Amino acid sequence: MDTRSFNLIDIALGEIDKAIKTLTAPSHSSRPAPAAPEGEVLQEAQRALSARLMRVNHSGEVAAQALYQGQALTARDATVSAALRHAAAEETDHLAWCELRLRELKGRTSVLNPLWYAGSFAIGALAGALGRSASLGFVAETERQVESHLRSHMERLGRADRRSLAILEQMTHDEIQHGAQAAALGGKELPFPVAVAMRLTSLLMTHGSYWL
Ligand SMILES: [Fe+2]
Ligand SMILES: [Fe+2]
Repeated sequence: MDTRSFNLIDIALGEIDKAIKTLTAPSHSSRPAPAAPEGEVLQEAQRALSARLMRVNHSGEVAAQALYQGQALTARDATVSAALRHAAAEETDHLAWCELRLRELKGRTSVLNPLWYAGSFAIGALAGALGRSASLGFVAETERQVESHLRSHMERLGRADRRSLAILEQMTHDEIQHGAQAAALGGKELPFPVAVAMRLTSLLMTHGSYWL
């Protein structure tokens, strides 16, 4: 077997390892989870709703890990790779916070997460291969859509679950930064049909993870 084949196998094994860790191992955050007032007690209906919404957000963060991993694999521009790595570290915080909150709410993660990971990884790898401006434009559009999704979840949570709200508020703040950074680095606006296709994919994910 030649060196190139060995390298490809190495890369593939590394990516499979990252996927398994994201899907099965507990995530660790570099920043503590945003705090909320102590002693908050939720009614059962609110707890069940919060658990479903945080399961959806956890799936979104699993997909974000895959998107960034896929893009980092194929991106050739060093500035883009550095920005992707910085954003990916914050996405790991989001993943860990959603996991923690799901445990507190006695919720479970979605059985569909492997599917979202595989699909998002492929989309990310494709976006990364399209070059700097398309790749960054893809990040900017993704983060814009995530921001509007998080805002809708904050409205649905109401004021009863301030712990989940505090987490989603910090995530929204971070996603806005990720999107702004990608746009500032030269991300170009995506063609309308691509943005619509991305929105339909995210609707599939939010509905799938809400129930499953
Ligand atoms: Fe995130
Ligand atoms: Fe983000």
